[in-house]
Amino acid sequence: MTPPRHIAIIMDGNGRWARERGLPRIRGHEEGAESVRAVLRACGEAGVEFLTVYAFSTENWKRPEAEVAALMGLLEHFLKQETPELMAQNVRLQAIGRITDLPEACQRELHRAIETTAKNTGVTLILALSYSGRIEIIDGLRSLVRAVREGHIDEAMIDPEMFSQHLYTRSFPDPDLLIRTSGEMRISNFLLWQMSYTEIYVTPKLWPDFRKEELLEALRDYSQRQRRYGGV
Ligand code: FPP
Repeated sequence: MTPPRHIAIIMDGNGRWARERGLPRIRGHEEGAESVRAVLRACGEAGVEFLTVYAFSTENWKRPEAEVAALMGLLEHFLKQETPELMAQNVRLQAIGRITDLPEACQRELHRAIETTAKNTGVTLILALSYSGRIEIIDGLRSLVRAVREGHIDEAMIDPEMFSQHLYTRSFPDPDLLIRTSGEMRISNFLLWQMSYTEIYVTPKLWPDFRKEELLEALRDYSQRQRRYGGV
């Protein structure tokens, strides 16, 4: 079975997982970070090349200040603590989104981890941080308009391939498989342009309960799909 080259994940249900156990929401996010570790390792074993996880959306800034601070703290901790493990697993770290929105300490750790892992040749783990699909498209449009205005490209040359080159994801292939946990049937402003032909897999499992076995089940489901890209 050929695995998907690129898997994107909407990691939903951390809050519900914590509530079901009478725990604070941040405990759900901490367990969610464990799932990221487990799924990343399983992706490496399965031969998946790119894994993009929706770790923080632009909409998430509207959450209570304490939860935002806790998530940023968790991210900083993950980046600091996980870098040796990323090196051991030959994982290359990348990020998409408006990274400059993040607290300075997070940005520092992120850039350091990206630089440290830059030459690794295994799975590319892409963190979507302060990410919005619509904002990404607008940022891409701005960059394209600038290129036309400065005379680098002719307006008539603009096509989907060229536009893709102006997005945050310019150096990654489009996702083959989107996994969304905790049952909701929504895209939630994630990789809107890139998911035109992505297969969608939704599971009722909450993200902290999604580990290797659940990933393998998603891969089995994907292997049954027939992708036609609008053809026959
Ligand atoms: C959605 O669950 C999850 C998030 C908004 C954050 C995802 C973050 C992590 C999994 C941990 C940090 C990631 C890394 C890479 C270290 P929710 O809170 O919306 O859950 P609910 O819908 O049940 O309330």
